[in-house]
Amino acid sequence: MPQIGTFTVTRQGFGAMGLSHNYGHADEAESLATLNRVLELGITFIDTANVYGNGHNEELVGRAIKDRRDGLVIASKFGIVGGGVSAEGANGKRVAGDPAYARAQLDGSLKRLGVEQIDIYYVHRIDTTVPIEETIGELARLKAEGKIGGIGLSEATADTIRRAHAEHPITALQSEYSLWTRDVEAEILPTVRELGIGFVPFSPLGRGFLAGATAPEDDKDVRHRHPRFQGDAAQINAARRAIVDDIAQRLGATTAQVSLAWVLSKDVVPIPGTRHVRHLESNWAANDLVLDADIIAELEDAFPVGATVGARFPETAPAQGPS
Ligand SMILES: NC(=O)c1ccc[n+]([C@@H]2O[C@H](COP(=O)([O-])OP(=O)(O)OC[C@H]3O[C@@H](n4cnc5c(N)ncnc54)[C@H](OP(=O)(O)O)[C@@H]3O)[C@@H](O)[C@H]2O)c1
Repeated sequence: MPQIGTFTVTRQGFGAMGLSHNYGHADEAESLATLNRVLELGITFIDTANVYGNGHNEELVGRAIKDRRDGLVIASKFGIVGGGVSAEGANGKRVAGDPAYARAQLDGSLKRLGVEQIDIYYVHRIDTTVPIEETIGELARLKAEGKIGGIGLSEATADTIRRAHAEHPITALQSEYSLWTRDVEAEILPTVRELGIGFVPFSPLGRGFLAGATAPEDDKDVRHRHPRFQGDAAQINAARRAIVDDIAQRLGATTAQVSLAWVLSKDVVPIPGTRHVRHLESNWAANDLVLDADIIAELEDAFPVGATVGARFPETAPAQGPS
């Protein structure tokens, strides 16, 4: 079983964001059924954040894990200021890493999740107006108080990772990593491996693109604003994905499973998200899909580093993105 710092976790975790945030409507009963299935399948690593649905996501996860918390590794995040749960102490900033703010946010997350400790507490985006040492110093105090089990960073640069790790050992880095977003391979992955920090790829299915999603139907879906999903960019990117479709057909698997199996081949712990039990089960089955070196090379030729057309996030997103 993979290790993330001192935590032993399943080969895949579950990203709960889409149950409350970003990708359009989610049916509450189906969301709870999906979370129940996560636990039935034995998935032990669940990812949420204070900003997802403005606290709704943490409450939903809290309901699902009530009386079943033992053996789970629960991760949450603070630092993106968006809505009521995040406003206090943020000084009008869109990304906030002030020590007092971190402490106040954690208390809210603990309540909503109904737990006494959050296992991995991530700095969701780096506040460049606050020295990272100050933020990490406060998180180290929260760890000493037993309120968190480990400190994580999300979307941090190699320099920030090193500075943070020098202040207090970092348990995990969570950044985007998938076939169409391989930027972390150059500097970030070697850095976390050197320092012994666990790597948790978010959006391992390319926000659904690598599972076949095209233009979203729901007006509230944030992918309406993501350049990679728009117009010519989407068409060019889809031509690359057709190669994954073809490989999937040859292997008797789905495009999503091949995409996930590729991430899994990198010895990291992805946290794919879905609102549907059938997608969850199919994604979990990707654990059994082992890709040989020729297939991995074919996939990487289809999606060379930097070849995907369109920025990862809308230009208006706080720091490097809204989620
Ligand atoms: N740290 C950060 O800044 C950050 C940013 C983004 C995400 N995250 C975390 O990473 C997790 C995963 O990322 P993500 O949700 O953005 O993207 P993802 O896991 O790459 O993709 C999720 C999308 O793929 C679709 N999907 C999943 N499995 C599918 C399948 N088997 N067949 C067809 N469609 C499928 C989902 O739609 P359905 O719901 O219809 O299945 C959803 O739209 C999030 O839940 C969140 O916890 C963190």
